[in-house]
Amino acid sequence: EKGGYDHFMLKEIYEQPSAILDTFRGRLLSNEAIIKMVGVEDNMKKFLAADRIIVVACGTSWHAGLVSEYIFEDLARIPVEVEYASEFRYRNPVITEKDVVIAISQSGETADTLAAIKLAKSKGAFVFGVCNVVGSSIARESDAGAYTHAGPEIGVASTKAFTTQITVLTLMALRLARAKGTISSSEFRHHLIELEMIPAKVEEALKSDGYVQTIADIYKDATNFLYLGRGYNFPVALEGALKLKEISYIHAEGYPAAEMKHGPIALIDEQMPVVVIATKKGHYEKVVSNIQEIKSRKGKIIGIVTKGDKSVKELADHVIEVPETLECLTPLLTTIPLQLLSYHIAVMLDKNVDQPRNLAKSVTVE
Ligand code: F6R
Repeated sequence: EKGGYDHFMLKEIYEQPSAILDTFRGRLLSNEAIIKMVGVEDNMKKFLAADRIIVVACGTSWHAGLVSEYIFEDLARIPVEVEYASEFRYRNPVITEKDVVIAISQSGETADTLAAIKLAKSKGAFVFGVCNVVGSSIARESDAGAYTHAGPEIGVASTKAFTTQITVLTLMALRLARAKGTISSSEFRHHLIELEMIPAKVEEALKSDGYVQTIADIYKDATNFLYLGRGYNFPVALEGALKLKEISYIHAEGYPAAEMKHGPIALIDEQMPVVVIATKKGHYEKVVSNIQEIKSRKGKIIGIVTKGDKSVKELADHVIEVPETLECLTPLLTTIPLQLLSYHIAVMLDKNVDQPRNLAKSVTVE
């Protein structure tokens, strides 16, 4: 059932190229240059009339929501707020009939997310669910939605659910951008072509596995890790840190790279591995200068870079390459080595990768 892999998590990491393809199926029609999403088409008026989108989710799904904030605002020019479902529901939030709420949940059973959408519905908001499990509570409770079609995710640490959630949200943002006219038809077409190349590029990113194992072996005994990224890759830094925490029990923090100087830089010494996502285009020069700051404090740098990168290679202790793509699609690639890094460290530390202590696959308590 693990398909020859030692753990479900590894199997699910390797399933991502085909899972993302399944997410595209019937939706991304690049020959015709259209995106077809029934749940979006049927409710286009509501999306176009929305003053803003509120995303509610927990954990990894919340990180996918953060990535979508950048995509929706960048491409479709719709203001987005991303909320922890648990905080949103307990603070008497301002919600009106003009709000669109997107609930993201792999299991579709997360109690806080479910309660948040019930609250939003009671205030008249339109609720759109992005779930993986078909027929789940959140899927049923939503007014409309789009499934991720990632297939069953068994490992407690969410992997393919995350990348397929980002894929669905990217398709939505592009579809809405087209409808709003905030993207030209040639740009739209270009995005579709680039998106279609993502599964093959994920496949290529997975080839870093051997080198990631080498890095895992060097740093597995570290007691703290820092993950840094900017823009589209800031949420990826948060997600990389969460993956490491939950399965290896090593303390890790994700930060926007520029925030480092406002505090976390004090933590950096020769014991501290710092994973920096430094792909081309995404404020690259700024991230390179952040890397210099880490290096001058003797931190160990593991850079996630675009294939062929030179500047980071000169500074970093290790670099892991991912293929080049559009900036807004980089999270789908930069996430891959971070998943592998946490996986290998946890295996080397002999942790229960698929069922980490204290965690459940779906959190049905509040
Ligand atoms: C992290 C993880 C959790 C879930 C969170 C939300 O790897 O698995 O953080 O992402 O509990 O779960 P869903 O997406 O099912 O609502």
